[in-house]
Amino acid sequence: MKKIAVLPGDGIGPEVVKQAIKALDAVAEVYNHEFEYKEALVGASAIDAVGDPFPAETQEVCETSDAILFGAIGDPKYDNDPKAKVRPEQGLLRMRKVLGLFCNIRPVTSYKILENASPLKPEIISGVDFVVFRELTGGIYFGEPRGRSENGETAFDSMVYSKEEIKRVSRFAFEAAGRRKKKLTLIDKANVLATSRLWRETVKELGEAEYPEIEIEYIFVDNAAMQMIQNPAQFDVCLTGNMFGDIITDEASVITGSLGLLPSASVGNKIGLYEPIHGSFPQGAGKNIANPVATILSAAMLLETSFGMAEEAKSIRDAVEQTLNESIVTPDIKAEKHYTTEEVGDAIAEIIKQKVSA
Ligand code: IPM
Ligand code: MN
Repeated sequence: MKKIAVLPGDGIGPEVVKQAIKALDAVAEVYNHEFEYKEALVGASAIDAVGDPFPAETQEVCETSDAILFGAIGDPKYDNDPKAKVRPEQGLLRMRKVLGLFCNIRPVTSYKILENASPLKPEIISGVDFVVFRELTGGIYFGEPRGRSENGETAFDSMVYSKEEIKRVSRFAFEAAGRRKKKLTLIDKANVLATSRLWRETVKELGEAEYPEIEIEYIFVDNAAMQMIQNPAQFDVCLTGNMFGDIITDEASVITGSLGLLPSASVGNKIGLYEPIHGSFPQGAGKNIANPVATILSAAMLLETSFGMAEEAKSIRDAVEQTLNESIVTPDIKAEKHYTTEEVGDAIAEIIKQKVSA
């Protein structure tokens, strides 16, 4: 039996997570697995309930599970209050750090059927299939010192990286490159930042020593941002630090036509966390309109990455693709008729069940 910690979080989180569990249950039925789910609080809903966005009890549930399925966190009531003492995002950052989730994997895949939904021309988006490896527990998000000067007139953050931090996330990216096109693109700002020069040096050394078959390409982050719009199909495996990765992956996520389609995985020491790239979409909460596909595909990543269930993961991906081809989609995707979150979730679960029993 596999234990899955379920952290629905805020906004549409609970609705989309529910659909991913339907898909997991369908997989369990077809492939004879047993998944045990344990729910826990995180984000604004955890602040509201117990005053902490990542309560000790949630940490305990995570640490005693085999994988974590995460919805989304964030609530506008915290965004507009610069003096708020606790924020939902702190819970997420603490969780990443405490659970050692130093490697964030964000695949960007274009679907033929959605090429017209992309803000880019179909000929530019066609064939886009790359994955960004983002360092997740270091860099400017966590570096010390950080804070305000005594008179409050100055504020500072520190971008700090050690060779070891760079190496451990780079290994994940090199391994992926080995399974894909044997090309790794390091995105940095080595023309300006000392940390970026350390990234280049470390990645180069590691590549030469352990992955000589992988070709390494270096690109400045500003140029990468431009290339991602002009010619995104050139990318395959990208590797970058925490903040550049945050920005680049948001950019990458919209070029496929819907933010509601992209899953992500955060891995590291032991346990993996899987979540949609999108946020908590508070305006959509409770309306049964959110796209559950990103979370359902996150469940597929969970099966493949944490449980080694490649075939099961593929059955989820195939089912998702079939619903897209049949235009069984939520309102964020252009179509003549739209379906609810529940209906899309049901359709995907049904297809998973049919496929293998057929
Ligand atoms: C993300 C989010 C988070 C980040 C926020 C919510 C702290 O934007 O997962 O990309 O910046 O890492
Ligand atoms: Mn982000």
